[in-house]
Amino acid sequence: MTERFDVQAACRWIRDQWRELAHELPSDGQQDWSEFGPDVGVVLGSGIQFPADGWTEYCRVAVGDIPGMPSPSVAGHGGEWILGEVGGSTILLLGGRVHLYEGYDVEEVVRGIRILAALGARGLILTNAAGGVREGWSPGEVVAIEDHINLQGVTPKVGIDVSSVIRQQTGLFDRDWIDRTERCYRNDSDAGATDGFPRGNYAGLPGPTYETPAEVRMLRKLGADLVGMSTIQEAMVAVDCRLRVQGFSLVTNLAAGMSGQPLSHEEVMETGRRSRGRLLRIVDAAISTLDPDPPPVNPG
Ligand code: HPA
Repeated sequence: MTERFDVQAACRWIRDQWRELAHELPSDGQQDWSEFGPDVGVVLGSGIQFPADGWTEYCRVAVGDIPGMPSPSVAGHGGEWILGEVGGSTILLLGGRVHLYEGYDVEEVVRGIRILAALGARGLILTNAAGGVREGWSPGEVVAIEDHINLQGVTPKVGIDVSSVIRQQTGLFDRDWIDRTERCYRNDSDAGATDGFPRGNYAGLPGPTYETPAEVRMLRKLGADLVGMSTIQEAMVAVDCRLRVQGFSLVTNLAAGMSGQPLSHEEVMETGRRSRGRLLRIVDAAISTLDPDPPPVNPG
Protein backbone atom coordinates (compact mmCIF):
# COMPACT_ATOMS: atom_id res chain seq x y z
CA MET A 1 0.00 0.00 0.00
CA THR A 2 1.48 3.38 -0.94
CA GLU A 3 1.13 6.52 1.13
CA ARG A 4 -1.57 9.03 0.16
CA PHE A 5 -0.51 11.15 -2.73
CA ASP A 6 -1.46 14.84 -2.85
CA VAL A 7 -1.52 15.75 -6.54
CA GLN A 8 -2.30 19.41 -5.86
CA ALA A 9 0.69 19.74 -3.54
CA ALA A 10 2.89 18.29 -6.29
CA CYS A 11 1.48 20.82 -8.79
CA ARG A 12 2.10 23.73 -6.41
CA TRP A 13 5.68 22.59 -5.84
CA ILE A 14 6.35 22.30 -9.58
CA ARG A 15 4.85 25.70 -10.38
CA ASP A 16 6.92 27.29 -7.61
CA GLN A 17 10.04 25.78 -9.18
CA TRP A 18 9.04 27.00 -12.62
CA ARG A 19 8.41 30.53 -11.29
CA GLU A 20 11.85 30.53 -9.73
CA LEU A 21 13.83 28.84 -12.51
CA ALA A 22 12.25 30.04 -15.76
CA HIS A 23 12.53 33.75 -16.36
CA GLU A 24 9.47 34.40 -18.44
CA LEU A 25 6.17 32.69 -19.02
CA PRO A 26 6.38 30.35 -22.01
CA SER A 27 3.08 31.30 -23.54
CA ASP A 28 1.60 34.75 -23.86
CA GLY A 29 -1.89 33.34 -23.40
CA GLN A 30 -1.13 32.52 -19.78
CA GLN A 31 -0.42 35.34 -17.38
CA ASP A 32 0.49 33.71 -14.13
CA TRP A 33 2.67 30.78 -13.12
CA SER A 34 0.16 29.80 -10.44
CA GLU A 35 -2.26 28.78 -13.20
CA PHE A 36 0.27 27.67 -15.77
CA GLY A 37 0.06 24.25 -17.35
CA PRO A 38 1.68 22.75 -20.45
CA ASP A 39 -0.40 21.85 -23.51
CA VAL A 40 0.99 18.35 -23.78
CA GLY A 41 3.18 15.91 -21.90
CA VAL A 42 5.67 13.58 -23.53
CA VAL A 43 7.07 10.45 -21.91
CA LEU A 44 10.22 9.29 -23.63
CA GLY A 45 11.23 5.63 -23.51
CA SER A 46 14.63 4.01 -22.94
CA GLY A 47 17.58 5.89 -24.38
CA ILE A 48 15.49 8.63 -26.02
CA GLN A 49 14.84 11.23 -23.39
CA PHE A 50 16.72 14.25 -24.61
CA PRO A 51 14.86 17.23 -26.07
CA ALA A 52 14.90 17.36 -29.87
CA ASP A 53 16.29 20.07 -32.14
CA GLY A 54 13.95 23.00 -32.33
CA TRP A 55 12.57 22.53 -28.83
CA THR A 56 13.11 25.50 -26.56
CA GLU A 57 13.92 24.50 -23.03
CA TYR A 58 12.68 26.67 -20.14
CA CYS A 59 13.71 24.74 -17.08
CA ARG A 60 14.20 21.33 -15.53
CA VAL A 61 13.35 19.85 -12.19
CA ALA A 62 14.66 16.59 -10.77
CA VAL A 63 11.79 14.14 -10.67
CA GLY A 64 12.91 12.71 -7.32
CA ASP A 65 12.46 16.17 -5.75
CA ILE A 66 8.77 16.42 -6.72
CA PRO A 67 6.73 15.61 -3.61
CA GLY A 68 5.39 12.07 -3.85
CA MET A 69 7.17 11.16 -7.10
CA PRO A 70 9.20 7.93 -7.21
CA SER A 71 12.75 8.02 -8.58
CA PRO A 72 13.78 5.80 -11.49
CA SER A 73 16.35 3.08 -10.94
CA VAL A 74 16.77 1.92 -14.56
CA ALA A 75 19.62 3.21 -16.72
CA GLY A 76 18.36 5.27 -19.65
CA HIS A 77 15.36 6.80 -17.93
CA GLY A 78 16.89 10.19 -17.09
CA GLY A 79 15.44 11.72 -13.99
CA GLU A 80 14.21 15.18 -15.00
CA TRP A 81 11.03 16.88 -16.04
CA ILE A 82 11.79 19.46 -18.69
CA LEU A 83 9.43 22.32 -19.48
CA GLY A 84 9.78 23.59 -23.02
CA GLU A 85 8.12 24.75 -26.16
CA VAL A 86 7.97 23.56 -29.73
CA GLY A 87 6.08 25.18 -32.59
CA GLY A 88 4.03 27.35 -30.22
CA SER A 89 2.94 24.48 -27.95
CA THR A 90 4.21 24.20 -24.40
CA ILE A 91 5.43 20.74 -23.54
CA LEU A 92 6.44 18.93 -20.43
CA LEU A 93 8.93 16.13 -20.99
CA LEU A 94 8.35 13.56 -18.30
CA GLY A 95 11.72 11.92 -17.82
CA GLY A 96 12.31 9.41 -15.08
CA ARG A 97 9.57 6.93 -15.93
CA VAL A 98 9.31 4.13 -13.39
CA HIS A 99 8.12 0.61 -14.08
CA LEU A 100 6.25 -2.11 -12.25
CA TYR A 101 9.33 -4.33 -12.44
CA GLU A 102 11.31 -1.88 -10.32
CA GLY A 103 9.00 -2.82 -7.48
CA TYR A 104 6.76 0.23 -7.70
CA ASP A 105 3.06 -0.32 -7.51
CA VAL A 106 0.71 0.79 -10.20
CA GLU A 107 -0.30 4.02 -8.46
CA GLU A 108 3.34 5.08 -8.27
CA VAL A 109 3.87 4.22 -11.92
CA VAL A 110 1.05 6.57 -12.99
CA ARG A 111 1.62 9.51 -10.60
CA GLY A 112 3.38 11.63 -13.18
CA ILE A 113 0.38 11.30 -15.47
CA ARG A 114 -1.97 12.41 -12.70
CA ILE A 115 0.24 15.47 -12.11
CA LEU A 116 0.34 16.28 -15.83
CA ALA A 117 -3.46 16.20 -16.01
CA ALA A 118 -3.84 18.26 -12.82
CA LEU A 119 -1.49 20.88 -14.30
CA GLY A 120 -4.06 21.29 -17.06
CA ALA A 121 -2.50 19.51 -20.04
CA ARG A 122 -4.81 18.33 -22.84
CA GLY A 123 -2.71 15.58 -24.32
CA LEU A 124 -0.14 12.93 -23.59
CA ILE A 125 2.29 11.30 -25.99
CA LEU A 126 3.72 8.08 -24.61
CA THR A 127 6.77 6.56 -26.22
CA ASN A 128 8.58 3.37 -25.42
CA ALA A 129 11.24 0.98 -26.55
CA ALA A 130 9.63 -2.27 -27.64
CA GLY A 131 10.42 -5.62 -29.12
CA GLY A 132 9.03 -6.14 -32.62
CA VAL A 133 6.70 -9.16 -32.65
CA ARG A 134 5.26 -8.66 -36.13
CA GLU A 135 7.34 -10.28 -38.86
CA GLY A 136 9.02 -7.89 -41.27
CA TRP A 137 9.91 -4.99 -39.00
CA SER A 138 13.52 -4.04 -38.34
CA PRO A 139 15.07 -2.31 -35.35
CA GLY A 140 14.57 1.43 -35.74
CA GLU A 141 10.95 1.13 -36.96
CA VAL A 142 8.54 3.54 -35.25
CA VAL A 143 5.01 2.19 -34.79
CA ALA A 144 1.88 4.04 -33.64
CA ILE A 145 0.08 2.06 -30.95
CA GLU A 146 -3.50 1.40 -32.04
CA ASP A 147 -4.55 -0.76 -29.12
CA HIS A 148 -3.05 -2.72 -26.27
CA ILE A 149 -3.15 -6.11 -24.57
CA ASN A 150 -2.67 -5.74 -20.83
CA LEU A 151 -0.75 -8.77 -19.56
CA GLN A 152 0.72 -6.94 -16.57
CA GLY A 153 -1.77 -8.41 -14.14
CA VAL A 154 -2.79 -5.04 -12.69
CA THR A 155 -4.75 -1.96 -13.63
CA PRO A 156 -4.88 1.48 -12.03
CA LYS A 157 -8.66 1.30 -12.01
CA VAL A 158 -9.27 0.96 -8.32
CA GLY A 159 -12.31 2.94 -7.31
CA ILE A 160 -13.11 3.68 -10.94
CA ASP A 161 -15.98 5.61 -12.30
CA VAL A 162 -17.97 3.58 -14.78
CA SER A 163 -17.72 6.02 -17.67
CA SER A 164 -14.02 5.23 -17.95
CA VAL A 165 -14.79 1.57 -18.50
CA ILE A 166 -17.04 2.51 -21.38
CA ARG A 167 -14.31 4.69 -22.85
CA GLN A 168 -11.82 1.90 -22.68
CA GLN A 169 -14.01 -0.32 -24.85
CA THR A 170 -13.45 2.12 -27.68
CA GLY A 171 -9.67 1.94 -27.25
CA LEU A 172 -7.40 4.32 -25.41
CA PHE A 173 -5.38 5.72 -28.24
CA ASP A 174 -6.92 8.64 -30.11
CA ARG A 175 -7.33 7.47 -33.72
CA ASP A 176 -8.20 10.88 -35.13
CA TRP A 177 -5.09 12.31 -33.56
CA ILE A 178 -2.98 9.46 -34.97
CA ASP A 179 -4.44 10.17 -38.44
CA ARG A 180 -3.67 13.88 -38.16
CA THR A 181 -0.18 13.11 -36.89
CA GLU A 182 0.48 10.83 -39.82
CA ARG A 183 -0.72 13.38 -42.36
CA CYS A 184 1.48 16.04 -40.77
CA TYR A 185 4.48 13.70 -40.64
CA ARG A 186 4.05 12.71 -44.30
CA ASN A 187 4.16 16.38 -45.23
CA ASP A 188 7.35 16.96 -43.24
CA SER A 189 9.72 17.33 -46.14
CA ASP A 190 12.70 17.83 -43.82
CA ALA A 191 12.15 14.35 -42.48
CA GLY A 192 11.78 12.93 -46.02
CA ALA A 193 8.77 11.19 -44.53
CA THR A 194 6.37 10.48 -47.35
CA ASP A 195 5.76 6.97 -46.05
CA GLY A 196 4.03 7.63 -42.74
CA PHE A 197 4.32 4.95 -40.08
CA PRO A 198 2.84 1.51 -39.37
CA ARG A 199 0.30 0.87 -36.58
CA GLY A 200 0.10 -2.07 -34.24
CA ASN A 201 -1.06 -3.62 -30.99
CA TYR A 202 1.22 -3.32 -27.97
CA ALA A 203 1.35 -6.16 -25.46
CA GLY A 204 2.48 -5.00 -22.03
CA LEU A 205 4.19 -7.55 -19.80
CA PRO A 206 5.38 -7.09 -16.22
CA GLY A 207 9.07 -7.72 -16.95
CA PRO A 208 11.83 -7.29 -15.97
CA THR A 209 13.00 -10.29 -17.98
CA TYR A 210 12.54 -10.26 -21.70
CA GLU A 211 10.13 -12.83 -23.07
CA THR A 212 11.04 -16.34 -24.04
CA PRO A 213 10.74 -17.35 -27.71
CA ALA A 214 7.68 -19.44 -26.80
CA GLU A 215 6.05 -16.41 -25.16
CA VAL A 216 6.74 -14.37 -28.28
CA ARG A 217 5.01 -17.01 -30.43
CA MET A 218 2.07 -16.90 -28.02
CA LEU A 219 1.95 -13.10 -28.19
CA ARG A 220 1.85 -13.20 -31.98
CA LYS A 221 -1.09 -15.62 -31.84
CA LEU A 222 -2.84 -13.25 -29.43
CA GLY A 223 -2.58 -10.45 -31.97
CA ALA A 224 0.35 -8.52 -30.52
CA ASP A 225 2.69 -6.66 -32.87
CA LEU A 226 4.90 -5.14 -30.18
CA VAL A 227 5.97 -6.15 -26.70
CA GLY A 228 7.18 -4.01 -23.83
CA MET A 229 6.93 -3.35 -20.11
CA SER A 230 5.45 0.12 -19.83
CA THR A 231 2.84 2.50 -21.30
CA ILE A 232 -0.40 0.64 -20.61
CA GLN A 233 -1.02 1.81 -17.05
CA GLU A 234 -0.09 5.36 -17.98
CA ALA A 235 -2.47 5.35 -20.96
CA MET A 236 -5.35 4.04 -18.84
CA VAL A 237 -4.94 6.74 -16.23
CA ALA A 238 -4.47 9.44 -18.84
CA VAL A 239 -7.80 8.60 -20.45
CA ASP A 240 -9.47 8.60 -17.04
CA CYS A 241 -8.00 12.05 -16.44
CA ARG A 242 -9.40 13.25 -19.77
CA LEU A 243 -6.12 13.55 -21.59
CA ARG A 244 -6.00 12.68 -25.25
CA VAL A 245 -3.44 9.93 -25.66
CA GLN A 246 -1.13 8.68 -28.35
CA GLY A 247 1.57 6.06 -28.03
CA PHE A 248 4.58 5.30 -30.21
CA SER A 249 6.89 2.33 -29.94
CA LEU A 250 10.41 2.44 -31.20
CA VAL A 251 11.27 -1.11 -32.18
CA THR A 252 14.69 -1.46 -30.58
CA ASN A 253 15.07 -5.18 -31.24
CA LEU A 254 13.25 -8.10 -32.75
CA ALA A 255 11.42 -9.95 -29.99
CA ALA A 256 13.12 -12.97 -28.47
CA GLY A 257 13.73 -15.89 -30.79
CA MET A 258 13.22 -13.88 -34.00
CA SER A 259 16.78 -12.85 -34.77
CA GLY A 260 18.86 -15.71 -33.39
CA GLN A 261 20.65 -13.18 -31.15
CA PRO A 262 20.20 -12.86 -27.40
CA LEU A 263 18.49 -9.61 -26.28
CA SER A 264 20.30 -7.09 -24.16
CA HIS A 265 19.46 -3.81 -22.47
CA GLU A 266 22.54 -2.31 -24.20
CA GLU A 267 21.07 -3.15 -27.62
CA VAL A 268 17.77 -1.53 -26.63
CA MET A 269 19.57 1.61 -25.46
CA GLU A 270 21.83 1.78 -28.51
CA THR A 271 18.95 1.49 -31.00
CA GLY A 272 17.05 4.08 -28.95
CA ARG A 273 19.93 6.51 -29.30
CA ARG A 274 20.46 5.82 -33.01
CA SER A 275 16.81 6.03 -34.05
CA ARG A 276 15.51 8.76 -31.83
CA GLY A 277 15.50 11.31 -34.70
CA ARG A 278 12.63 9.63 -36.55
CA LEU A 279 10.65 9.13 -33.38
CA LEU A 280 11.10 12.74 -32.31
CA ARG A 281 9.95 13.98 -35.75
CA ILE A 282 6.79 11.97 -35.29
CA VAL A 283 6.38 13.33 -31.77
CA ASP A 284 6.72 16.86 -33.20
CA ALA A 285 3.96 16.05 -35.70
CA ALA A 286 1.81 14.77 -32.84
CA ILE A 287 2.39 17.89 -30.75
CA SER A 288 1.44 20.17 -33.61
CA THR A 289 -1.80 18.30 -34.35
CA LEU A 290 -3.18 18.04 -30.81
CA ASP A 291 -6.89 18.89 -30.71
CA PRO A 292 -7.43 22.25 -28.96
CA ASP A 293 -10.44 20.83 -27.08
CA PRO A 294 -10.42 18.19 -24.34
CA PRO A 295 -11.98 14.86 -25.30
CA PRO A 296 -15.72 14.39 -24.79
CA VAL A 297 -16.60 12.84 -21.42
CA ASN A 298 -17.85 9.64 -22.99
CA PRO A 299 -17.10 9.20 -26.69
CA GLY A 300 -18.22 5.54 -26.57
N1 HPA B 1 10.57 -7.14 -24.73
C1 HPA B 1 10.07 -6.42 -23.72
N2 HPA B 1 10.38 -5.16 -23.53
C2 HPA B 1 11.24 -4.58 -24.39
C3 HPA B 1 11.79 -5.28 -25.45
C4 HPA B 1 11.44 -6.65 -25.63
O1 HPA B 1 11.88 -7.34 -26.56
N3 HPA B 1 12.60 -4.41 -26.13
C5 HPA B 1 12.52 -3.22 -25.47
N4 HPA B 1 11.69 -3.32 -24.42
